[in-house]
Amino acid sequence: MESIYIHGGIALQGQVRVQGSKNAVLPVMAATLLTEGTSTIGNCPRLKDVYHMQTLLESLGCVTARDKEMLKVHAANVSTLRARDGMPEDAVRGMRSSIILLGALLGRLGEVRVEYPGGCVIGERPIDIHIEALKKLNVHFEEKSYGFYAYSEELRGTEVSLPVPSVGATENLILAAVRAKGTTVIRGAAREPEITALCEFLSLCGADIAGTGSATLIIQGVERLMGADYAIAGDRIVAGTYLCACMAAGGEVLLKEAPVLQMRETLAAAIRMGAVCQETEEGLYVQMEERPKALKRLATAPYPGFPTDMQSPFLPVLSLAEGECDVEENIFENRFHIVPYLQDMGADITQTDARHIHLRGIEELTGRRVLAKELRGGAALTVAGVAAKGVTVVDGCKFIERGYENICRDLRELGVRIYGV
Ligand code: UD1
Repeated sequence: MESIYIHGGIALQGQVRVQGSKNAVLPVMAATLLTEGTSTIGNCPRLKDVYHMQTLLESLGCVTARDKEMLKVHAANVSTLRARDGMPEDAVRGMRSSIILLGALLGRLGEVRVEYPGGCVIGERPIDIHIEALKKLNVHFEEKSYGFYAYSEELRGTEVSLPVPSVGATENLILAAVRAKGTTVIRGAAREPEITALCEFLSLCGADIAGTGSATLIIQGVERLMGADYAIAGDRIVAGTYLCACMAAGGEVLLKEAPVLQMRETLAAAIRMGAVCQETEEGLYVQMEERPKALKRLATAPYPGFPTDMQSPFLPVLSLAEGECDVEENIFENRFHIVPYLQDMGADITQTDARHIHLRGIEELTGRRVLAKELRGGAALTVAGVAAKGVTVVDGCKFIERGYENICRDLRELGVRIYGV
């Protein structure tokens, strides 16, 4: 799919099932590498990143099989030789999260060769925290022409304090620590639900992890891990995106299998803006009858704070809200790529610096041709198109497909006139 065409401005109505969480399934898939049996991962979303991860696992000796929403991984024969050969470049390049194979392969084989797209170690998305933390577990790193080689004769448990609660670094540390000798204490760990999913899966496999869901994890390394069955929860960001579409265009929808308990701050913001959000047996019911009311301030923060991945989808809603709002991005720099496009659609937004914008709500957005430059920004532009009068074309849809199985199909179920070409 290259472009999405949306005839916007029509209130939403309908129900849709929310896909399984991308950010939860990827570390769980990586964790299967640590096991010596077969794991079954339920509610596995059909996404490019998942297929890339499947390719990577197979390249390392795993046998994988997919049956509808179920993915089976048999990891008895993971081989050092294959890991030494390096992983297929296409799959590594195609997926940023391949970096979590670092912890998993260190845990399983004690070594890993990591290739960098473009050979850049500390690039746009640095991994310095991952590296420093793993060094404490007795991992050595050697810079190579292709990237780096990491190895450990013996992973040793110790105390590690993370300077910021990095999701990826916490995942890598957990994956290495479950197989380390002795006890690892991770302080300042990220608390995102995806970390909880990883800990739950590993615990089912036989890992000894205390403090799941908290900022301090105490992990007692074990000799062996077996396969386990685990169902991935609904994707909180996908559910939040459709919630935003309903808030921006009005209407009422049922988001089946939305992980309501993981969406506390997102729902609190939506409710303050005038949405009716109700947990039902099936998921999340949303009703938006009036024009949204502006929030005074919206600031992103590590979980359980307001998620950075929800910041972009909230911008079209805030653009249409009654009143003014300051938005502060505290996790990533330059996460306001979509502002010029929203301005072109009529939004009144002033950018103060890389981390701050100010919005003055307007009554109507107008359809325009816009360009997705990254995943959540692309989804947010689609939300803007759903609310805007006239036709919006969103180009660059390959980014959106990284995180949304089929955003057009889902939004059509909610009554949106939307087509991907
Ligand atoms: C994960 C999510 C992403 C989400 C983000 C924050 C996945 C696949 N992705 O990304 O959707 O937006 O959490 O909730 O799960 N940092 C460093 N050095 C490091 C690591 C991180 O400086 O070694 C910085 C990053 O640049 C960023 C902040 O720490 O500013 C948080 O990043 P992190 O939590 O690691 O995000 P990801 O795991 O990459």
